[in-house]
Amino acid sequence: MRSGRKKPSTYALLFSYVLPYFGYVLVLALGTDALGKAGAYALALAASAAGIAFAWRWYLPLPGPRSPAGSVAAGIVAGLAGTAAWIAIKAPFYEAGKEFFHRRQGQLNLSCAQCHDDNAGRPLRGDTISYGLGNGYPAYRLEWQTVGSLHRRLRSCAFGVRAVQFDYGSPEYVSLELFLAKRAEGVAIETPAIRR
Ligand code: HEC
Repeated sequence: MRSGRKKPSTYALLFSYVLPYFGYVLVLALGTDALGKAGAYALALAASAAGIAFAWRWYLPLPGPRSPAGSVAAGIVAGLAGTAAWIAIKAPFYEAGKEFFHRRQGQLNLSCAQCHDDNAGRPLRGDTISYGLGNGYPAYRLEWQTVGSLHRRLRSCAFGVRAVQFDYGSPEYVSLELFLAKRAEGVAIETPAIRR
């Protein structure tokens, strides 16, 4: 170890990663209702900063930038680059899902959007058409008499319009799932929900 620093314990290393992260995530998980969005994010950032300040003693300089501050800065840059790469990797799948959602399909020649955007709130065969969000899945459906995945629900909708039912985990449904998740941004996760 450079400059005669003592090797930190495994726990110290773990804490230095976990504390800032959990500070951030826990505050956001608990705080958005009570504090409002801006307040919760401000507090989450403060909690994360407090975690970093507390764990500072355990941070080791990377071989590149030789100070803890340089290491932390390099970490932030790497994190941002990773996020950008992640978004760039996912974006084409999102576009594919969006295209799928708006494409007319099946013998009834209907797109997802025609039911779940244009006719949400209207009755259909004893159901009320919802916005078609995935936030309740995996869900217990009375029709299935068991818990089923979002892809199973998508296959039901495809069956309803006499369209191709893609396989569980198919690229089509994985892309569609990504689009549905983005479309449901801000809606609370409800799984395991109960559905007819
Ligand atoms: C003919 C109209 C129709 C079409 C087209 C259709 N659906 Fe549905 N969908 C329904 C009905 C009816 C339900 C059950 C009631 C509800 O939850 O909306 C449903 C349920 C869903 C649900 C479950 C919602 C929940 O909370 O339980 C999702 C997700 C969904 N559809 C997505 C899609 C997607 C994606 C497509 C395109 C591949 C699609 N649907 C095509 C009528 C349709």
